[in-house]
Amino acid sequence: MVVNRNIFLIGFMGCGKSTIARLLSEQTGAKLIEMDETIEAEAGMSINQMFEQYGEKHFRDLESQLVSRIAEEGGAVVSCGGGAILRAENVAEMRKNGIVVYLSETPETIYQRVRYSTNRPLLNGNMNVEYITSLMEQRLPRYMAAADVTVVVDDKEKMEIVKEVCTQFVDKR
Ligand code: S3P
Repeated sequence: MVVNRNIFLIGFMGCGKSTIARLLSEQTGAKLIEMDETIEAEAGMSINQMFEQYGEKHFRDLESQLVSRIAEEGGAVVSCGGGAILRAENVAEMRKNGIVVYLSETPETIYQRVRYSTNRPLLNGNMNVEYITSLMEQRLPRYMAAADVTVVVDDKEKMEIVKEVCTQFVDKR
């Protein structure tokens, strides 16, 4: 499969975007872009530090700038930060030059995946299923509106998810 447009993977923190993006990139040979890692490397600090020192808006601004840069280039598999769909301008950029795939996962499974993680400022101090459920409910309309396709992750095998994304990409491009 030749990836000429971008494939943007969106979804809640811990839904598996990074893993699926890496496998997709290995399968297709397309460049892998991990948005959070790129932002951290360019800023020379962790997302936790950035939220602490400069606030969330600063992080969101860098996130928006990165989305625009990626959209200009094309041909990459992009693992987006969970909040990258919060700004309408980001979604417009993604859709301009790519397909947007929403990886949908239940709050309970998300909790199981992220519960020991300390590098997600929004969850630090809020690490429980109730909070994850309410944030997910708040964001769900945005994920749904941004997505060209939704892939339900649940307990599927990773390669099954990758196959589904590839099939959808071929159909939609
Ligand atoms: C965020 C998700 C994180 C990271 C930041 C904010 C969010 O990325 O961008 O902590 O608002 O959902 P992951 O979805 O890769 O954890």
